[in-house]
Amino acid sequence: MNHFEYRDQILHCEGVPVPLIAASVGTPFYLYSAATLTRHFQAMDQAFADIPHVTCFAAKSCSNIAILNLFGRLGGGADIVSGGELFRALTAGIDPKKIVYSGVGKTPEELRYALKSGILMFNVESLQELETLQAVAAALDLVAPVALRINPDVDPKTHAYISTGLAKNKFGLPLDQAAEVYAAAQAMPHIEVVGVSCHIGSQLTTVAPFVEALNKVIAFVRRLSANGITIKYLDMGGGLGINYDQEEPPLPAEYAAALKEALREVPGCTLIIEPGRVIVGNAGILVTKVLYTKSGAKHFIIVDAGMNDLARPSLYGAYHRIQPVEEKGQENVVADLVGPICETGDFLAKERMLPVCASDDLLAVMSAGAYGFSMSSNYNSRPRVAEVLVRGDEFQVIRKRETFAALIQGENIPEWEEFSG
Ligand code: LLP
Repeated sequence: MNHFEYRDQILHCEGVPVPLIAASVGTPFYLYSAATLTRHFQAMDQAFADIPHVTCFAAKSCSNIAILNLFGRLGGGADIVSGGELFRALTAGIDPKKIVYSGVGKTPEELRYALKSGILMFNVESLQELETLQAVAAALDLVAPVALRINPDVDPKTHAYISTGLAKNKFGLPLDQAAEVYAAAQAMPHIEVVGVSCHIGSQLTTVAPFVEALNKVIAFVRRLSANGITIKYLDMGGGLGINYDQEEPPLPAEYAAALKEALREVPGCTLIIEPGRVIVGNAGILVTKVLYTKSGAKHFIIVDAGMNDLARPSLYGAYHRIQPVEEKGQENVVADLVGPICETGDFLAKERMLPVCASDDLLAVMSAGAYGFSMSSNYNSRPRVAEVLVRGDEFQVIRKRETFAALIQGENIPEWEEFSG
């Protein structure tokens, strides 16, 4: 359920007609509904209300500080994967005691920044990272709270690029090495073992792989406790999928019920979840304008948003529903919806039944709230687009469209002789 609906044939975001926003901010732009963001956050968070838990929103999926701030006010924390995301989360007012830090390649500088910020937990993915964290913590005379990320070797049955829990993926520690690394961590004076973490992949559409992974993690936690290592936090990552097209992913309540059932085995553990897509995916759309159309061997609709603005179709062959912003009873035509980028891989939809369009028509690329803006780039020297948040009958620009000046910010022409000709 989301708050993008037609009223009198015009697509609205909550109470605001989308064309009104387009006229005010220009196109393309990302548009988010505060009511949908809130509803989805609460659906996930409240599904675990009866057990100790922290909902750490995966900042990588949508990292605008206005949105992080909204989740912070709803009691959420953040799952971060870089110093930049930590900076965003702290700037947005997220409580550092609700921040967990994941990722295989944290630099010593990033570890130092997070340690000084007093985050809840580092999800460490290798022995070398653990040793680096111990050294960084010793130099600061601090103690780093640590969970080791386990790779449970479970198939999440999702796109190969976003599956993370298989033995062949770069993430986490194999189960057969993890016990040894825990023992090493226990012996390090500036490391405090507090948790176990796991994240098997993204856009999962069944609960079975989550349960399989959780059962492996729980068996491991019991082994640790037999060895005198007590675990306070059990972090099961994110990954719950959404409906883009025909998928029927489990509802948060079904997902929660399955996890809670297994968690009875480890009373006293606080659960951490790191949902991203399930909260923001269907709370945001990308609005784009038709520039031109042309027909030859195929029919092309050329719009002003490209793969630099929304990379998912080009990168993963991902499906995003395309809807006209104004329903005019248009006929449909099979077309490719393409952007202005100079690459054949620049498309938003391929061989799709789309409304017959004219120049200046607005189209909505649906389900673009997760990994949309946050993966956008300046490729082809295109300024990144605006982001707009609607609440009720009001809208606000939460990120201005970039200027040309911003494109070359920090660049410099050297004053070397050979350059001056
Ligand atoms: N926790 C960790 C450690 C992660 O690596 C991820 C996502 C999440 C949580 C959040 O997963 P979610 O709940 O959003 O599925 N760019 C891709 C998705 C990459 C996911 C990376 N990790 C896409 O557009 O589909």
